[in-house]
Amino acid sequence: MNEIQLELKNQLQKFCLQKIEPHMEHDDETETFRMDIFNELGELGFTGMTLPEEFGGVGLSYQDFSIALCEIAKYSVSYAVTISVSSMVQAILNEFGSVVQKKQYLPALSSGIEIGAFCLSESGAGSDAASLITSAKKTTQDGTEGYLLNGSKIWITSGGIAKTYIVMARTGAAGSSGVSAFIVRDGTPGFSFGKKEKKMGWRVSPTRELLFHNCFIPAENLLANEGDGFKIAMAALDKGRFTIGAIAVGCAERALDESVRYALSRQQFKQPIFDFQGLQFMMADMALEIECSRLLVLQAAKDYDSGTPNAKLACMAKLKATDTAMRVTTDAVQILGGVGYTKEYPVERFMRDAKVLQIVEGTNQIQRVVIARLLKKEYSKH
Ligand code: CAA
Repeated sequence: MNEIQLELKNQLQKFCLQKIEPHMEHDDETETFRMDIFNELGELGFTGMTLPEEFGGVGLSYQDFSIALCEIAKYSVSYAVTISVSSMVQAILNEFGSVVQKKQYLPALSSGIEIGAFCLSESGAGSDAASLITSAKKTTQDGTEGYLLNGSKIWITSGGIAKTYIVMARTGAAGSSGVSAFIVRDGTPGFSFGKKEKKMGWRVSPTRELLFHNCFIPAENLLANEGDGFKIAMAALDKGRFTIGAIAVGCAERALDESVRYALSRQQFKQPIFDFQGLQFMMADMALEIECSRLLVLQAAKDYDSGTPNAKLACMAKLKATDTAMRVTTDAVQILGGVGYTKEYPVERFMRDAKVLQIVEGTNQIQRVVIARLLKKEYSKH
């Protein structure tokens, strides 16, 4: 790590230990998201890390961002994911938005005053995202040109607490080319929230259904051009996926840390359980898998930073790191034994939080589909 990265890590560790960690057990139990914590993270510059300074961001690299997300995830996967998704929304606006759109929406998002949400999935369009049916029909209302949104979205991270929603909706024919992206603000008439999901993990981060009923969106809220929506979503996910990998590395690191500390202090058969080779091999494998994952995530981030994005590596980073997080957190519960299965230690929470990392931003099966397609493409060039 360079000096900036070490400073980032130390600052975040201090903040999380003081402000996040003391509430985590209670907030996980009660599904409480604290906006004041998010606002404070914003004041410290942690909610707009990769955005250029002209729109209120800090202008850091994706490598710095990955290190920061990893650190936050050691204390709370939920806050890390809120920042990751809100940053993905900022990246979309920065890359595809007009100057007016950027000036209007980015400062509140980057400063952590507001949260952004990414809205692609529907009940009938999960892995097959291009089959979405939420419609956006061209219309004119009171002399203003725009679109009428009808339909619903599910699994929306930060649904209900976000103010700016990037919504993919169908403006054209079936398939990916008929999808467009819109900026929809909370409070727009015709836009409401459906059920809040009761989840196994990520309990501090609300996940909600969004409902659109004759919701009028002015044409100025269209992002880029009609029909660009699917590519905008896919390009955003390319970046989002390795940041989910970074969160997974943090989640796994915390589980390993809890395991080693416990194994060194817990005595059975007149010796610390750490001294049993069976457990040593488990912990050595946990450490190995975490380092492999970290290197993949940082390499994927570096490729983005150097202007040569590698979608295949981004999918690999997400796949490897999230499978590692699931395995490492499960092993951590095993090493702690009975107490690992209780709320006396945080490992059961990290195990629950790890599971959905294998599902969001493209299931790990979809990551393999993308990796295989890109492999085929590479080989068909020869
Ligand atoms: N960047 C830019 N364009 C891309 C792209 C990318 N990474 N990937 C595909 N495209 C383009 C293609 O080039 C193609 O364009 P043309 O028609 O001009 O050739 C177009 O998009 C369609 O591509 P495909 O034919 O590959 O599309 P597909 O229907 O076969 O789907 C898929 C591909 C990879 C399976 C995709 O549907 C997918 O990623 N599914 C998973 C969905 C997903 O990740 N959902 C996550 C929800 S969001 C979330 O979880 C966030 C959260 O809140 C935590």
